[in-house]
Amino acid sequence: MIAHETTPVPQYAEEVILGLTSPHKTLPCKLFYDEIGSALFEEITRLPEYYPTRTELEILRKYSREIAVSAGSPISVVELGAGTATKTEMLLRAISWRQMRVKFFPVDISPSALSEAGKRLRAELPGALVRPVIADFSDGFHFLNGISGRKLVLYLGSSIGNFDWNDAIALLRKVRDQLCPDDALLLGTDMVKSPEILVPAYDDAQGVTEQFNKNILRRINREFHGNFDLDSFRHIAEWNPECSRMQIYLESRKPQVVTLAATGTTVRFRAGERIHTENSNKYTLDMVQQLLCVSGFRLEQSWFDERQWFGLHLARVN
Ligand code: AVI
Repeated sequence: MIAHETTPVPQYAEEVILGLTSPHKTLPCKLFYDEIGSALFEEITRLPEYYPTRTELEILRKYSREIAVSAGSPISVVELGAGTATKTEMLLRAISWRQMRVKFFPVDISPSALSEAGKRLRAELPGALVRPVIADFSDGFHFLNGISGRKLVLYLGSSIGNFDWNDAIALLRKVRDQLCPDDALLLGTDMVKSPEILVPAYDDAQGVTEQFNKNILRRINREFHGNFDLDSFRHIAEWNPECSRMQIYLESRKPQVVTLAATGTTVRFRAGERIHTENSNKYTLDMVQQLLCVSGFRLEQSWFDERQWFGLHLARVN
């Protein structure tokens, strides 16, 4: 492998090259979220076909008070992967009914998203003490240790679903290891449902999810001096009932050779050959219970929307 003369290659170069040169090509879904990808994901959350965000909001709108009572008080709220924390306001409001001041720690890798969250929440919830934490989860969850008193950790949006089973357990265990017996976790999960609902949610009519998926190639072109032709790849979203997940791919429309000049990598594609870019796991309540249990939590209560499409689960440290 020859390093490009001018630009340093990103730290995840090895992962990208290994993924693109293996017999079953893959790319890590964390690469979706550069500036363009994050904006495209925001757009996805407003699509008519993409139900998870608005369904989770519906549950929060309906049950925030119940969740606040079950979580107990006084409590500080920590939101993992908070972004701009748009969904959290209702829950914070419900908690602030029960205690004088609610401390809120939105945690994210993006400083700009956190500063937006801080500004908005300080204006709309003057009773909240907002303390943003800039952190990358791959460095662990030690920041949880520094927050005193009883905590409610939020992991919303079914972000857990983008991790394979064992990786999801590893992540939840790391969170668990930083918590005390009275602390709680509120986990959002997308539930198993008909492929007629699931497939369009990941292959929308306006093609926003296709753009989101292909943005990974645009990012690689930029960061690795690659020459992926985005139009030569097709966006594929498939339901895998055995693995209970949506699987997202980019499929080569023709035989082609792509080069990443920054690393001197050549990638050959057959017509119809795919790059697996993302899994989005869907759960039954049993699966959620098992996931939490093996991660060191005890499921206490779940709230669903009327169609049982999405779930919010309150779990205690075991
Ligand atoms: C962020 N995550 C929960 C989304 C999901 O539904 O798995 C990512 C996404 N991929 C395509 N559309 C949305």
